[in-house]
Amino acid sequence: MEHYPNIIAGQKEPAQSTFESRNPARWSEIIGHFPCSTPEDVDQAVKAAREAYPKWKLVPAPRRAEVLYRAAESLARQKEELAQLMTHEMGKVLTESRGDVQEGVDMLYYIAGEGRRLFGETTPSELPDKFAMSVRAPIGVCGCITPWNFPLAIPSWKLAPALVAGNTVVFKPAEDTPLIGHRFAELLIESGLPPGVLNVVHGGGEVGAAIVSHPDVDLISFTGSCEVGREVASRCADTFKRVSLEMGGKNAIIVMDDADLNLAVDGAIWGAFGTTGQRCTASSRLVVHRDVYQEFTNKLAERARNLRLGDGVSDSTDVGPVINETQLQRIHEYSEIGKAEGARLMCGGEIAREGDLAGGWFYRPTVFADVEPKMRIAQEEIFGPTTCVIPCDNLDNAISIVNGIKFGLSSAIYTANVNRAFRAMRDIEAGIVYVNASTIGAEVHLPFGGIRQTGNGHREGGHVLDVFTEWKSIYIDYSGRLQRAQIDT
Ligand code: UN1
Repeated sequence: MEHYPNIIAGQKEPAQSTFESRNPARWSEIIGHFPCSTPEDVDQAVKAAREAYPKWKLVPAPRRAEVLYRAAESLARQKEELAQLMTHEMGKVLTESRGDVQEGVDMLYYIAGEGRRLFGETTPSELPDKFAMSVRAPIGVCGCITPWNFPLAIPSWKLAPALVAGNTVVFKPAEDTPLIGHRFAELLIESGLPPGVLNVVHGGGEVGAAIVSHPDVDLISFTGSCEVGREVASRCADTFKRVSLEMGGKNAIIVMDDADLNLAVDGAIWGAFGTTGQRCTASSRLVVHRDVYQEFTNKLAERARNLRLGDGVSDSTDVGPVINETQLQRIHEYSEIGKAEGARLMCGGEIAREGDLAGGWFYRPTVFADVEPKMRIAQEEIFGPTTCVIPCDNLDNAISIVNGIKFGLSSAIYTANVNRAFRAMRDIEAGIVYVNASTIGAEVHLPFGGIRQTGNGHREGGHVLDVFTEWKSIYIDYSGRLQRAQIDT
């Protein structure tokens, strides 16, 4: 079984001790061994990134972008191989793994294009014979800490913009999906990054903490849970690091009485059970008009019961495993909580153990009906194949249910009424709103992120350069005399 190293200053650095990455569909299958990095490893990686920074930031941005174009092409060529690996390591079904790799390709092309833009502004000065402009400047050494649910797409959202803007990077892939993170970083390096521009340190939360606390890291970009995000933010405050956080969601689909119900059920099934519900954009609340509530709920539960659980590599699988045993137990605890709260369990609610499923971490697609908006299962992020159907009386009621949570990432409304659609677009408080489409399916060139405890005000995707650059204002006085702003009026 292969042992993978850290990558520091372009060198493969073997580890003192290692951890295993395993297949969540067949826990006995080891994917590879990866370093348990130490604070010293992190320090070496940060030093390498710091040393590489002065040169890399002076490489013209269109040239930096060429590396990303080459990486996009090579990633597109390796799409099938990486998708297979991803399904083995992370569990999601192959079609979705292909989508994850494709999202990386899209992001690389999109951000490579920014290498020939990185637009700033020119603006008139208030004084004669004076020129004023603002330009984007890199920030320095960026720590990028990524989750396991989109093990290639999410790293691409961070590494590509960091690099095109002239930053250098210390990257820690998720402990549950180190191989995909490793392969993606290798591919970027092989596409022409100079040594030290991108460094990889493997490991768990303690490695992330060492990056976050390191005094010579300038920026942290983190995607993960709210609990860890809070810790990251407070550690970043100690050293005044810039920090971009992308955290939880409790995303709702509104289904109005005028909706195309079959379309809405399709969207709910895809949004709730795609990626086994392990998306921050998952449709974990379905707010359904009372007039169509019974019909919708019955159709949904019927479809959910018939979803086939299994290894994501098989064509006959609809829903793959969850990532690990801890998550499996957590998801199951929420089923117990939902029952205790008085919600009606329509299907699922149990760990699946028959046949081959016993060898992995499988949970039955779970639908709770008659859920009240304040129940914990309707308020807290479960991050698994569990969704809640909540009845509503009208659009106002639906929108107030949708907004009545501590998150604000994605949302959707199914309606045939254009007035209702526009009111929902305006009044739903979330970073993303879909009309007649599910809560998942964000494209890389639009802003991605949310309000309230979903994030801390930053966006990835479109506008991500605002995370990875500083604005610098420049004034050029060509009058040849002392001119005083605000004084020589
Ligand atoms: C995530 O859920 O963590 O819109 C990211 C989507 C994907 C990205 C999801 N393009 O669901």
